[in-house]
Amino acid sequence: MPYEVTLIPGDGIGPEVTRAAQRVIEAAGIAVRWEEQPTGAAVAEREGTPLPDRVLDSIRRTKVALKGPVTTPVGTGFRSVNVALRKALDLYAAVRPAKSYPGTPARFGHVDIVVIRENTEDVYAGIEFDYGSPVTGSLVQWVERNTNIDLSDDVGVSIKLISRHGSERVIRFAFEYARRNHRRRVVAVHKANIMKSSDGLFLQVAREVAAHYPDIGFGDLIVDNLCAQLVQRPEAFDVLVLPNLYGDIVSDLTAGLVGGLGLAPGANFGVEAAMFEPVHGSAPDIAGQDKANPTATILTAVLLLRHLGEDAAAARIERAVTEVLRDGAVVTGDLPRRPHGRTVGTIEFTDALIAEL
Ligand code: NAI
Repeated sequence: MPYEVTLIPGDGIGPEVTRAAQRVIEAAGIAVRWEEQPTGAAVAEREGTPLPDRVLDSIRRTKVALKGPVTTPVGTGFRSVNVALRKALDLYAAVRPAKSYPGTPARFGHVDIVVIRENTEDVYAGIEFDYGSPVTGSLVQWVERNTNIDLSDDVGVSIKLISRHGSERVIRFAFEYARRNHRRRVVAVHKANIMKSSDGLFLQVAREVAAHYPDIGFGDLIVDNLCAQLVQRPEAFDVLVLPNLYGDIVSDLTAGLVGGLGLAPGANFGVEAAMFEPVHGSAPDIAGQDKANPTATILTAVLLLRHLGEDAAAARIERAVTEVLRDGAVVTGDLPRRPHGRTVGTIEFTDALIAEL
């Protein structure tokens, strides 16, 4: 029986890189019936919304999706499809591995970090009070009345929301992930010295949850200290679990450490479904030109196969990626060309990878 997987090709380079991942999965001998669900900018014109209900219905049914990047118009137009998908499916944990492969412009060898980002709360909860609005005025007055803090009224306010429930489920997820993937240590990242009520709660919950996992090491670090250490000795880190905003920033930092967005895979997990997508965006500057590096999406497919329990196929694909990158006979335009190598397009790079399987 083939697996049923929802496929969101996405915008820009999305269709090119997801096609590459589909080809590799098929070549690895895994049969998938793809339920293709166009989503994003092109769909918005035709169907009046970039995220029609049929997309969510499909993912709720198949419980697993491979997704290409979707363009979000800046300033005007529809809101982020990515945020809407994560919210609608309650995909509370984002997993972003950052591993250095030989032959890539990684700043360090031997990096193998997994960033686990809380995906639903923090300043992303959407509790916003605009500069100059009457509600913001009342909020300022309320704060002044109930605290000893004097506020001026020329402010915009974004509320940072961290819940016990939201923290507990993502931290528990991090420890379960560590256990399943033979990882040794989880570090909770915060700024609890300053934000005692929100990050302080996250840290307190992390300590409580850690007590239930005596087989996994645990530590905590203040986020600025983590950033300094990451750029000095990233090989010292294993699994990191972070509230939403720090997770967003730190996962781009770790992607940069291992050679850039073209190599960074990702996954989002919820209770009812999991959605797999590369970290990068739709790259309109190179879309439709057979220039995109499909590695991030192919490594995303590796995460998807592991989720389906197809560990052997996942390992074969990851080994082929490692070989092709190390060998350097073919590289995509975002990677440095080596003296013996050629710069090739998405399709030829994928062909080389399939030949290595
Ligand atoms: P981007 O990631 O699309 O591009 C940044 C730079 O990296 C560009 O120069 C691009 O050519 C390059 N790049 C990205 N992926 C690459 C790949 N696989 N191979 C080679 N080069 C690659 O980020 P940008 O330009 O900020 O965003 C473009 C659009 O994508 C926006 O509409 C944004 O909202 C959306 N986006 C969507 C995401 C998603 O669907 N999960 C995530 C991030 C951005």
